[in-house]
Amino acid sequence: GAHLQAASERIPSVRAGIATGFGTALQKAFPSVDIQPAVAATNNPDHGDYQCNNAMALFGRMKGKEGAPKNPREVATAILNALPDMPAIDGKPTLAGPGFINIKLSSQWLSSRIQDMIKQGAGSWAPSLPYKRALVDFSSPNVAKEMHVGHLRSTIIGDTIARTLEFCGVDTLRINHVGDWGTQFGMLIQHIAETRPGGLHGTTTEDVSDLQALYKASKQRFDAEEDFKARAREAVTRLQSGDPEFEETWKRICEASRNEFDAIYQRLDVRLVWRGESFYNPRLTPLVEELIERGIAEESEGAMVIHVEGQKTPLMIRKSDGGYGYGTTDMAALYQRIHEEKGEWLIYVTDEGQAGHFKLVFGAGKRAGIIPANNPPRIDHVGFGLVLGQDGKRIRTRDSGAAVRLVELLDEAKERCAASVRERQETTIERGGEEISAEELDNISSVMGYGAVKYADLKNNRSTNYKFNFDEMLDLKGNTAVYMLYAHARIAGIIRKGKKDVNEVAQKAQMSLDHPSERALALHIVRFTEMLEDTLVDLAPNRITEYVYEMSNYFNTFYQACKVLGEAEEDSRLLLCEATAMIMRQCFQLLGIKPLYRI
Ligand code: ARG
Repeated sequence: GAHLQAASERIPSVRAGIATGFGTALQKAFPSVDIQPAVAATNNPDHGDYQCNNAMALFGRMKGKEGAPKNPREVATAILNALPDMPAIDGKPTLAGPGFINIKLSSQWLSSRIQDMIKQGAGSWAPSLPYKRALVDFSSPNVAKEMHVGHLRSTIIGDTIARTLEFCGVDTLRINHVGDWGTQFGMLIQHIAETRPGGLHGTTTEDVSDLQALYKASKQRFDAEEDFKARAREAVTRLQSGDPEFEETWKRICEASRNEFDAIYQRLDVRLVWRGESFYNPRLTPLVEELIERGIAEESEGAMVIHVEGQKTPLMIRKSDGGYGYGTTDMAALYQRIHEEKGEWLIYVTDEGQAGHFKLVFGAGKRAGIIPANNPPRIDHVGFGLVLGQDGKRIRTRDSGAAVRLVELLDEAKERCAASVRERQETTIERGGEEISAEELDNISSVMGYGAVKYADLKNNRSTNYKFNFDEMLDLKGNTAVYMLYAHARIAGIIRKGKKDVNEVAQKAQMSLDHPSERALALHIVRFTEMLEDTLVDLAPNRITEYVYEMSNYFNTFYQACKVLGEAEEDSRLLLCEATAMIMRQCFQLLGIKPLYRI
């Protein structure tokens, strides 16, 4: 966006800024010891806003040496004495306990930092990262099969990771590694060839419109009829050797799936580059041959495999029948992503069940030199847990026992939101309030409904399973998107009623943080940058949801204690409201949730 600045122009997080100061002090006081500054935010205001915990470890490392300090407090005192002048810090940091250093931020510094953000936009607070280009492999459903809840999780988590990287100015390629290749196509195409009146000739999108039924029927025959199975296998070979009619039908099947997937992506406002497994097909044979020639791949029961240190099973790169599989494609993709796309950070978002597969792929990639030993890219598999129904089992639809259809799930979330907003509207109207138009109601319910599904997913520690529960995710008072959207709309309402141009106020007025609840809110606001730094360390979107949730709590405490409009502090407090709303919106943007200004 317009507010995105070059990495070099961006300011470091508060935590990083303080750490730099302490790094200088450590260097100066203990030049012979190589130690990184350890600065962390505190949750208890009695311990200051941040704490430096280096003294204890430093003491331990120097103990017994000549001229070593007598105790950690002595170490801490030496650090304090060497501390450069830091405008961010209020007065002199204090010593506590065995050797903690408690740091309190200057309120004036806090308020001017926030005021700068209001003027320059939340983008000026994006962390700068040491990566120019990232590749996020996410969503990645399989053609001709239904996109299931697992793919929904991948889509939501991957989108937030991609949005966060983009916010940080990283050029990010969003790859949809669609399962569009493999033996199931032989089965599908052969079935169409045998059941369609004109055979494969001139297949249309219509012919493959009911892909699920087609898949089911052909799978049934594949499992039951030996000779069909043989013909299906032959069909794979014909497809792979480029038979035009087979290829045409394959394209139609992909197209039909793509239309279904795109409808979901559109609702969820997720962008992806379609780069299915077939994209890598021409690369498989040369790659496998090279790996065999170099002795990286070896024979095992007729198949070719790569052994990886520390892994019980090897990675299969060629089956005994000569075919290639999921792992072969991922090896080719790894090469393409590192050496052609020049990815400096590769991220793969799938269910936790594939963690073993990715360990093998990355291990084999290292052995083969595809992942260079020097200056390797950062590579992460982002695994996630299952979505469970109320019974604690994998989520299923009540009637058929089939996986829940995503479309139905999104429809229901939206419909429930519409009902609840309509209900609230009735009371508003009874009280003489404004009525919202049908169009607005539709927008509000989709923002809320889809936002609720996303938020309920993202707020969990991604590696654990969670229970899908509509009542919980639509709770007006819980840790939900609905609650967060109402909180934002309320703040927007206060600003609107102030009838002032906040940007003008930001130029003229000075924000002051005299009340403890104002200061606590401000402190939370400036921690936005380091929250994102932490989010990116372990690729944990739940840190963002936690942060917005806490933000709304700090805001509530502030708003209960401090009136905004009509007070002497009106301008200052309007600025605090605006900063809160801006950072909330930025978090919404990263979570893929649209803000609402009035509900
Ligand atoms: N299509 C796979 C599935 O549905 C996910 C692909 C993940 N990406 C990858 N490069 N293997 O399980």
